[in-house]
Amino acid sequence: MKQEIRWGILGTGRIAGWFAKALTVAEGAVCYGAASRTQEKADAFAAEYGFAKAYGSYEELVKDDAVDVVYIATPVREHFENMKLTLAAGKHVLCEKSLTVNAAQAHEAAALAREKGLFLMEAMWTKCQPVFRTIKKWVDDGVIGEVMAVDASFYTATGKDHRLYKHALAGGALLDLGYYPVTCACAFLGARPSAVFSHSIIGAGNVDYLDSIVLEYAGGKFAHLSTGLGAEKTAGIYILGTKGRISIHDELFFQAQRAQAVDFENNVLASCEEPFLMNGYEYEAMEVMECIRAGKTQSALVPLDDSIAVMEILDRCRANAGFAYDFE
Ligand SMILES: NC(=O)c1ccc[n+]([C@@H]2O[C@H](COP(=O)([O-])OP(=O)(O)OC[C@H]3O[C@@H](n4cnc5c(N)ncnc54)[C@H](OP(=O)(O)O)[C@@H]3O)[C@@H](O)[C@H]2O)c1
Repeated sequence: MKQEIRWGILGTGRIAGWFAKALTVAEGAVCYGAASRTQEKADAFAAEYGFAKAYGSYEELVKDDAVDVVYIATPVREHFENMKLTLAAGKHVLCEKSLTVNAAQAHEAAALAREKGLFLMEAMWTKCQPVFRTIKKWVDDGVIGEVMAVDASFYTATGKDHRLYKHALAGGALLDLGYYPVTCACAFLGARPSAVFSHSIIGAGNVDYLDSIVLEYAGGKFAHLSTGLGAEKTAGIYILGTKGRISIHDELFFQAQRAQAVDFENNVLASCEEPFLMNGYEYEAMEVMECIRAGKTQSALVPLDDSIAVMEILDRCRANAGFAYDFE
């Protein structure tokens, strides 16, 4: 029986509900406290997902001594302040992606966690999932030879009233969606490209609704990435090596439950199928709890340096477009 870890959830929106469901299959996870900016929402969330406590403010949750770790599930603009609040109260943190609005904030959050000796991880659920981990192992083992290129995209369509179109919440395609192709390119080609080229189109709501990105690496390696709002939900990836390729297009690549590596004649080099226990968020919860039980302050699967490096690339893309948020 694994040591119990009591979870608090900060913010009761869409992703908070999915994560709360995932906790029910993560051994040792206790759905302890839910916090909202309003007591009514906290009560409703706690009742629906079986949380013992419901708080009408984020401050009350982080002050509760019984909470071991807080999952921050608020819009990107709020992450930095929410992390500071939670870390200052002495609680471990799992914070939704992107970790912050910019790299400066990410550095500061990481430094605060370090200073306090607390665990901090970006909720990059994909890197914790079994299929992603298997693909990473294939790549590290040279199954497709040397990786020369990554081609990835993520598009989605929402109503114009969605947070993605809200400048004041750090909306836009890049921080919410483009984050995935960039993170995966870094995972397979390295977190520090030699050059970042990009073009963004700024549109409705004064947010970026299309971003086209090229990351250049030494040795002629590159990533070709794109992201955008207003198009049917689709997310695909090619990882191209000197001996073959891995491609995921028949499902959203960041939540893939099967994958195949093939050579240039389409002979299968490796394949895997790993159905989720629940919805895919359980693996990041398990990773956080394993790290906390082991007394670690960072996850080897989602290290803070990687999260910071991605924020630096996203900063460069926004600088290339001359696009900053009013509140930065
Ligand atoms: N990993 C993934 O697959 C995935 C998927 C979707 C979203 N996300 C990430 O999860 C975060 C939340 O996304 P979501 O889709 O769950 O958003 P959402 O449905 O809009 O929920 C966000 C929640 O944050 C709280 N909040 C705090 N300050 C707020 C403010 N100023 N304006 C609006 N809400 C505020 C609200 O909860 P209270 O009213 O209860 O305080 C709200 O319900 C984002 O960072 C996003 O990037 C990740």
